[in-house]
Amino acid sequence: MERLRVTGGASLRGSVRVSGAKNSALKLMASTLLAEGNSTLRDVPAITDVHYMAELLRRLGADVTRADNTVTIGVPDKVAHEAPYELVRRLRASICVLGPLLARCGAADVALPGGDAIGSRGLDMHIAGLQRLGAEVDVEHGYVVARAPRGLHGTLIGLDFPSVGATENILMAAVLARGETVIDNVAREPEIVDLCEMLIEMGARIDGVGSSTLRVEGVDRLEPADHVTVPDRIVAGTWAVAALMTRGDITVTNARADHLELVLDKLTRAGAEIEAGANGGLRVAMSDRPRAIDVVTLPYPGFPTDLQPMVVALNAVADGTAMITENVYEARFMFVNELVRLGAEVRIDGHHAVVRGRESLSGAPVVATDIRAGAGLVLAGLVSAGETLVSAVQHIDRGYPNFVGQLGELGAEVVREPDPDRFDD
Ligand code: EPU
Repeated sequence: MERLRVTGGASLRGSVRVSGAKNSALKLMASTLLAEGNSTLRDVPAITDVHYMAELLRRLGADVTRADNTVTIGVPDKVAHEAPYELVRRLRASICVLGPLLARCGAADVALPGGDAIGSRGLDMHIAGLQRLGAEVDVEHGYVVARAPRGLHGTLIGLDFPSVGATENILMAAVLARGETVIDNVAREPEIVDLCEMLIEMGARIDGVGSSTLRVEGVDRLEPADHVTVPDRIVAGTWAVAALMTRGDITVTNARADHLELVLDKLTRAGAEIEAGANGGLRVAMSDRPRAIDVVTLPYPGFPTDLQPMVVALNAVADGTAMITENVYEARFMFVNELVRLGAEVRIDGHHAVVRGRESLSGAPVVATDIRAGAGLVLAGLVSAGETLVSAVQHIDRGYPNFVGQLGELGAEVVREPDPDRFDD
């Protein structure tokens, strides 16, 4: 077990590169199961979640190799169809092998991931969608057991909510189904667009990419692809918030400003000077204390829930009082108790948090409860007097490649060290 020792006070300055998005790379890796042969994925982030997805694909029979940020996945003619609990519990995103396995093998047994520190993570829409495609799907002994021995068939599916995971699983099953599938009210996140683009490179026929209705004309087989992962908008947004909070000046390269429109608009209202470079990238500079900003999280193109902890941290030191509304996860304010240990003034009322900004926070030991809470607490530590010890750093490692190294390059004083007080998570 390790922790981060964050010394407050530095103003972050310099340039940092964002790599491919975790929440795309994991799904792109799963999608390679749909075609026999060698697929290549580029700009895959060096994070533990990718490591666990590689383990899972190996367990299913694939040959996975990694050189720098390029991952090559060799998928055999026959793949196994069981994603066991010991791997799924480490990586909730393993659920995204459900659709590809069902389409490719006519069978999938995927352990239920369960809830986590941000709330329950339902699968009802994944299951209902695959049933509409003709699969028999049951939950037995902690597994989703799906069978479609005679293959899947096209249909009309309307999602109750634009779930990212349900959209991905249904889409990856529909690309090999017989006939046309129309999926309505799909998630429109840039990572979904990236997955559609990869599937189209593999030979899938998909219309409406980026809109809320996807039309998929099933094909008999797909071919392997060579694809570059879309840049991580959540990591880019994290650096942008860091620039504001520390009154710094950060150039974020390989960032897509068009994927962060609402976020950048909010940060501009908080007082940031933001320039989007013509050939990608962002520069975010801040000289004064940020102003409080209200935020409501919603599916894309709304404000991302994955940046909610960072804006709560930002508002904790902003001038004024802000209301943050969390609409995606029932328990994503749990980390606020840790922020309060740093002196933040936050009152939670259901899915609203009222944050009254303070001039400064004061360092204390805190625990990262999930990836984004961990990043938010590190940002808060950067503007806290003295030292903040952020334990359970393994959560941050799941989503931020070389976070400590990049913080150091920007001038922050952050050290990774063994955590004598924690033996497990
Ligand atoms: N939901 C259901 N039933 C379903 C599917 C979803 O009730 O069948 C609920 C969930 O319980 C949750 C909400 O709908 O409350 C959103 O779930 P969604 O399916 O959209 O999210 P996800 O696919 O489980 C991905 C990201 C999350 C990100 C969300 C929303 C991955 C691996 N995870 O999760 O990322 O917060 O979309 O954008 O892509 C993170 O990176 O820190 C993270 C949590």
